[in-house]
Amino acid sequence: MDAFEYKDKTLFCERIKIEDIISKVGTPAYIYSKNAILARYHELKAAFREVDTLICFSVKSNSNLSICKVLAEAGAGFDVVSGGELYRAMKAGGDPSKIVFAGVGKTDKEIRYALKNDIFMFNVESLAELEHINKLAEEAGKLPKVALRINPDIDAKTHAKTTTGKKENKFGIDFTEAEGLIKQSARYSSIDLCGLHVHLGSPVYTVEPYVSAFRKIIKLIQKCRDTGLSIEYMNIGGGYCISYTGEEVIRPKDYAVKILPLVKEMQCNIIMEPGRFITGNSGVLITRVTYTKETLHGKKFIICDAAMNDLIRPALYDAFHRIWPVNPGIKMPKAEDPHKSMIKKGMELVDIVGPVCESSDVFAAKRALPKVSEGDLLAIFSAGAYGFSMSSQYNSRPRPCEVLVDGDQYRIIRKRETYGDLIKGEIFT
Ligand code: LLP
Repeated sequence: MDAFEYKDKTLFCERIKIEDIISKVGTPAYIYSKNAILARYHELKAAFREVDTLICFSVKSNSNLSICKVLAEAGAGFDVVSGGELYRAMKAGGDPSKIVFAGVGKTDKEIRYALKNDIFMFNVESLAELEHINKLAEEAGKLPKVALRINPDIDAKTHAKTTTGKKENKFGIDFTEAEGLIKQSARYSSIDLCGLHVHLGSPVYTVEPYVSAFRKIIKLIQKCRDTGLSIEYMNIGGGYCISYTGEEVIRPKDYAVKILPLVKEMQCNIIMEPGRFITGNSGVLITRVTYTKETLHGKKFIICDAAMNDLIRPALYDAFHRIWPVNPGIKMPKAEDPHKSMIKKGMELVDIVGPVCESSDVFAAKRALPKVSEGDLLAIFSAGAYGFSMSSQYNSRPRPCEVLVDGDQYRIIRKRETYGDLIKGEIFT
């Protein structure tokens, strides 16, 4: 699991024992590895180095300021989807001239905010939005760069709730409408329509959906150029997969082998928007077992102090996250089959759940786990992307702290919330 490895029967993040961090910061806690984040960023950059590529880290995957700062300092730009994410990216030291702004519902307020800060590019998702940006840019005396987000109607074969490039999805503009808009582009005198954008969904475990989408896009780029519109930028989105099971999955170089020839054909400056690939396996969520409970029907629950409000992916998408004790008596297998639990001696089949009052508050059902007791620590792996960033205070639960490890040092990069934080902003009348 990248920077997270067991040595001497205890889990480390880089060169620090997880249990040593937890003894100071408590549970639940998100722990990230700075060097894993940087390694993933550089791996992607290296795989695509043959073309001029700007990597815009997708802030929604992990929006902690210190995480964004690590990436800003490494030279990354940012992919934002709200005024709030733009605010965060800039606060973290992100250079506005490397920030792209996507999303189907940018409000006038958000558009003005982005214009004021001279961001790199708007990824536009509808005619209505194009008109708003054009009008607001004219008022502000600006000429923002715009990319049209194309909905290529490609099935990325991912979870229905994380697919974005099919015609029934709300995202982007289909080819016919895009062509019409491009022909009319002279009408929009306050924008510089100079790019196209496509994001298929995530995580995408094969290269084929990208290849199919890019073949279609190349034709559109050609048509644009035929009408005299120069497409200088192609934003090829994110969605690059990570391994949630320990199985090998394709890596940036595998994507690059098939994607690079197409990308070269586009003759554009390339923008990428990875999120999960950079942070997903660079973070874990550590939780403590509060109780174990066995029903009369022989079912065993491991009730821990993290819950669906801290990590919602299993409840929302039935997502599989590996879970293993921080100090296990049994070695974690190299890989797991999400559909078949392998029970060995000393292990049992359990449901690992949180304390939230919802039946969907289950991190793992029928999971083979070494026997654990009250007070034991569990690591929930692959939690660095869409973990804390999707967390909430549901059931009035203060959210966990976040910790960043660098070698043998660590820093708290977000304090654990307090009960006071739960009522902050409420007006008691
Ligand atoms: N670009 C755009 C326009 C996006 O909408 C997204 C993700 C990304 C880039 C980054 O995708 P990534 O490289 O991280 O896969 N909450 C879900 C994922 C939703 C992704 C939304 N958009 C999950 O936990 O799996």
